[in-house]
Amino acid sequence: MDIKKLLSQMSLTEKLGELSQYNMGVLSTTETGDLTGPANDLKLTKEELAVVGSVLGYSSAEGTKKMQDEHIKNHPHGIPLLFMQDIIHGYRTNYPIPLGMGATFDPNLMEECARMSAKEAAVNGLHVTFNPMVDLARDARWGRCMETTGEDPYLNSLMSAAQVRGYQSDMNKEYSIAACVKHYAAYGAAEAGRDYNTVDVSERSLRDYYLPAYKAAVDAGVEMVMSSFNLVNGVPSTGNKWLLDDVLRKEWGFDKILISDYNAVYEMYDHGYAKDAKDCAEKAINAGMDIEMMTTCYLKEIPALIEEGKVSMETVDKAVLRVLDLKNRLGLFENPYYYADKEKADKIVFCDEHRALARLAGEKSCVLLKNDNNVLPLNEHSKTVALIGPFIEEPMIGGWPGAGSRNEVVTPLTGVKNLLKDAKILTAKGCNGTLKEQPDYKMIKQAVKCAKKAESVVLVLGEHDLMAGEGKSKTDINITPAQVELCKAVCKANKNTAVFIYTGRPLVLSEINDIAPAIAIIWQPGTENGNVLANMAFGKANFSGKLPMTFPRAVGQVPIYYNFYTTGRPNHEHDLPIAYRSAYQDERNSPLYPFGYGLSYAKFEISDPVLSSNPLKRGETLTASVVVKNVSDVDGEETVQLYIKDCYASLARPIKELKGFKKVNLKAGEETTICFEISEKQLEFFTANNVFEAENGDFKVFISNNSNVKTFATFKLI
Ligand code: BGC
Repeated sequence: MDIKKLLSQMSLTEKLGELSQYNMGVLSTTETGDLTGPANDLKLTKEELAVVGSVLGYSSAEGTKKMQDEHIKNHPHGIPLLFMQDIIHGYRTNYPIPLGMGATFDPNLMEECARMSAKEAAVNGLHVTFNPMVDLARDARWGRCMETTGEDPYLNSLMSAAQVRGYQSDMNKEYSIAACVKHYAAYGAAEAGRDYNTVDVSERSLRDYYLPAYKAAVDAGVEMVMSSFNLVNGVPSTGNKWLLDDVLRKEWGFDKILISDYNAVYEMYDHGYAKDAKDCAEKAINAGMDIEMMTTCYLKEIPALIEEGKVSMETVDKAVLRVLDLKNRLGLFENPYYYADKEKADKIVFCDEHRALARLAGEKSCVLLKNDNNVLPLNEHSKTVALIGPFIEEPMIGGWPGAGSRNEVVTPLTGVKNLLKDAKILTAKGCNGTLKEQPDYKMIKQAVKCAKKAESVVLVLGEHDLMAGEGKSKTDINITPAQVELCKAVCKANKNTAVFIYTGRPLVLSEINDIAPAIAIIWQPGTENGNVLANMAFGKANFSGKLPMTFPRAVGQVPIYYNFYTTGRPNHEHDLPIAYRSAYQDERNSPLYPFGYGLSYAKFEISDPVLSSNPLKRGETLTASVVVKNVSDVDGEETVQLYIKDCYASLARPIKELKGFKKVNLKAGEETTICFEISEKQLEFFTANNVFEAENGDFKVFISNNSNVKTFATFKLI
């Protein structure tokens, strides 16, 4: 299709239609064709609805075909629709929530999972997924921690690029769909962890921590970028010319589609940054925003803005061309159904192979925090097992499940029954799993009765999947009093109790940690939920996950993250409440469990790092190596992590930063040497010169299996 020619034939309304996206609530009219509901409220005319360019949140093999047919028939130029939806951890086969995927520290697995999502989504008529979501999160109060891969810019960047590759496959493989990285920018830095709240962050922090994962997606060829809801230093992202035009378009060379978040163009009015809808439209389009989601500022206001000379036709045309270009490259002008195909969908979607991948990802995402007396794995040959906790029969799937259905989720109880076919499974809820819940001693008594009768107990605690996600911020991330009391009573009744924590964010586990002998984080594993739980609890799989976010001791420590600055009065060495040090009176500084932490049934010893040379000359590389030994009698997988500290620089640098990691499988007793190459590139940061560069000087190299590592080797960059 000659899209430039097509553009020249389009009316202004048709052009603005391409730049407008609505959901089915707006787009579907009554059978008589009357406008009802939101379309009416938005004052959209039938002519405007007929030229809308894309649909939000709808997919179905047959449904999208039907809708596409209708649309093409009614559109003056027969331009097909783009179908977009939030597919963030699987289409119908749901793998773990992204925070769980972060815990795998496995970009290849992430890519495979994204590829599976793309297949299932494509045969259901989707063209674009609103993912990867790569907002760096340091505040566990924020509900959307669950959608990110965590607190580290390096890990997030690898996961970001892996997802783009998985969904898009360079847009040239069967079942590729376009990815949309979001939420640009720094949405995760919302003050006090309250969703949509103000973000006030220095350019240096943006560049060093918040922006890299979006850039990684752009470098991997992502087709779309979504702006965030928040202000960035006083200007909403959606109308932020510096972010959208200077950085994204000009510096990073992104020339594909920019889309606003839901309603975000008009929300610039509520931010107090635009005086009315017209001002919103002017600010958004002139900042570089192509598609407006769920509001009508463009359709309704841009015609007058063009007449007044405040918006140029050239700006509008550029945006429209970007949308037409994606439609063209997807081949929609020739085949508007794309890969929508009911027969294929019936075969591909939710197939055994996909479920097996989701299960594997679930297992790889689980993080073992503690395992006193080798309580885990529990004996799979036990005759009587107790499964206790508020979520044991809850079909929790994890937020934004796409087309995933709770009806298809394997509950914890079903999972345990699937595995322990001959065992007697005793069950009790022990509490209801609600917010701020206080103990109900009748329920606890019931649970204790079960625990006493059983050989071992799987105790399922944490938060319901509906407690994390968009708009689900919390001030209290403690385990509720009801769950703590339940844990106390059950652990007292049965020493063979293993606690599994379901969660979409780091929680404060301090009390549970004092009580329970074994604790594992299972996040929200998706469709295969109960099977993952059973396999992990009864030793069908070994633990290998690592925390992608720091787990605090107390909510007052939040935001807490491993790559902090030392301060002029550091206290991290003592980690005690010392007056006139940067400390708290009532709590230590260190977290309960640090970033990168996670145990295995195997035990690994890692030697101190050895450097191949010193100094490191610019343009050259040096190798940092360690010997990793599995000193146990069990096979296992370890994630060996490289951290670097720039000792002094033109701007203070964090105490350490993750710069590499390698996963290694070692049989019982086996050892191997793991090497990391270090070059100038890994030493770069956004310096006082406002550029990324490495500065000469001393560096420390740490290699370990979590971020809390003290031993290091040093080198000089010259
Ligand atoms: C969310 C986005 C999402 C969009 C469309 C918004 O509320 O912030 O992440 O992509 O809705 O569903």
